Amino acid sequence: MSSAAGAVTDALRELRTRFAGVRDGEPADYIPQLAMADPEAFGLALISMDGHRYSTGEVDVPFTMQSVSKPFVYALALCELGLDGVSRWVNAEPSGEAYNAISLEPGTGRPDNAMVNAGAIVTTALVPDTADTPRFDRILDCLSRFAGRQLDVDEAVYASEVATGDRNRALAYLIRSAGPLPVDPVGAVETYFRQCAVRVTTLDLAAMAATLANGGVNPLNGDVVVEEPVAAQVLAVMATCGMYDTSGDWLLRVGLPAKSGVSGGLIAAGPARFGLAAYSPRLDPTGTSVRGRIALGALSERLGLHLM
Ligand code: DON
Repeated sequence: MSSAAGAVTDALRELRTRFAGVRDGEPADYIPQLAMADPEAFGLALISMDGHRYSTGEVDVPFTMQSVSKPFVYALALCELGLDGVSRWVNAEPSGEAYNAISLEPGTGRPDNAMVNAGAIVTTALVPDTADTPRFDRILDCLSRFAGRQLDVDEAVYASEVATGDRNRALAYLIRSAGPLPVDPVGAVETYFRQCAVRVTTLDLAAMAATLANGGVNPLNGDVVVEEPVAAQVLAVMATCGMYDTSGDWLLRVGLPAKSGVSGGLIAAGPARFGLAAYSPRLDPTGTSVRGRIALGALSERLGLHLM
């Protein structure tokens, strides 16, 4: 192993050991099934552009993507409609608000960005839905190609969100009432729930982040999942909006495009360098993994990953 590779492995192991005792926060429970997660599970993984995998902890434990699915479905919508075609319906401005806020442009109902729930629901609605290829099949295929393996749905988590997801349904109705969208966000909410329930591991998330970092080419198998400009556009929106109302502080301190999810997954990408993922279900009040946030922050500082 080269000394650089050894430094990465050492850093991941040491940070996991250092932060494994952090007991702040609890797993999400507003989607009841998420509360079943083991609060002590803690995985860290990094995949480099040559496909080398570095990891420590519970990196094979399955969990659902939740909001970490959003940048990848945004990538799919960008592939289908182009940047102008998507931006007409979903803006790309930081909202400075929580993930479930009513962050809709006054007058038009256009969501502020594709990382908050309102924008993600519209993004999902923009993915074409045809008789031979239903919308969700396109989404699952896309997410699977980012990961480099066939993913599936955690039906129990899906059912749990269907049973409790009225705030997202309310957002979809507000969007539909305000704007001239060519697609139906209300009809797409259940598909959005299903994309949030796609099951991954920490290593899968590292591969997905690495594919974005690698200009859309999966570094594990060479699959061209999206074109390079689309990968760059997604990373730009992750950098400005991926951590919701802590996006500015995250970019200031950690310096990497990132996306969090309420199941405890967190990804970050170093363009042309690496994809990074953490999993730990204890959440802070913004819906981000407590240990994930501090571990990726400390890793950035230790290995000098800050982009600025
Ligand atoms: O729509 C929701 O509320 C969840 N399915 C996803 C929210 C989420 O992951 C927020 N991110 N940290």
